[in-house]
Amino acid sequence: MAGPRPIMADKVRVAVLISGRGSNMLALSEHKRREPDRPYEIVLAASNVPEARGLVLARRLGLPVWAKSHKGMEREAFDRLLDAELRARDVEIVALAGYMRLLSDAFVAAWEGRILNIHPSLLPAYKGLDTHRRAIEAGDAFAGCTVHVVTPALDDGPVVAQAPVRIRPRETPEALAERVLAEEHRLYPQALEDYCRSIVAARGGGDSGHEDAPPAE
Ligand code: GRF
Repeated sequence: MAGPRPIMADKVRVAVLISGRGSNMLALSEHKRREPDRPYEIVLAASNVPEARGLVLARRLGLPVWAKSHKGMEREAFDRLLDAELRARDVEIVALAGYMRLLSDAFVAAWEGRILNIHPSLLPAYKGLDTHRRAIEAGDAFAGCTVHVVTPALDDGPVVAQAPVRIRPRETPEALAERVLAEEHRLYPQALEDYCRSIVAARGGGDSGHEDAPPAE
């Protein structure tokens, strides 16, 4: 059990939750590494899949790792363990990055306004899975990605940031997914940075010059 840690007024403590390859986690980590003044600190990489590829990456990046399989556990019971770990590390913001497990309503309520997710579509279009194929089959001109605040309904919370990606003629879902992913890696770090800067500004820390409230509306 971790002891109390000093909370830095100008840095928001972020946990990144992953289930797979972790490329968005890497993007969030690299964004911070390139410019350490950015107003967040990744203090934990957590996963419900102990063998997730992204955890290898997290360890290489020197991030503290928590991994526990959810198999055989009630959703609420698993989320209580996760919640305890986040609290033990004084986490303030949870960034979902390919976390392929629905969170319990109790967890989402406890972390209201403090969970972000990246989704590979222009929400509210194409909630759920298989977003690229669905956008192509619908004949859409644009696909894209969205960072949003997590609420109990799937892929449904307030939008924080979006980036469109034009769909090319005869593009395959795989090719489109790759180009959208590259855009995710730009969008998510900037959105997390902006979100955390607003939190820091609201508590009177940092020198951001932003006086607005957190953009969770
Ligand atoms: C991304 O496409 C993200 O939008 C979705 O899951 C995928 C995760 O990829 N939520 P990675 O694990 O970050 O590489």
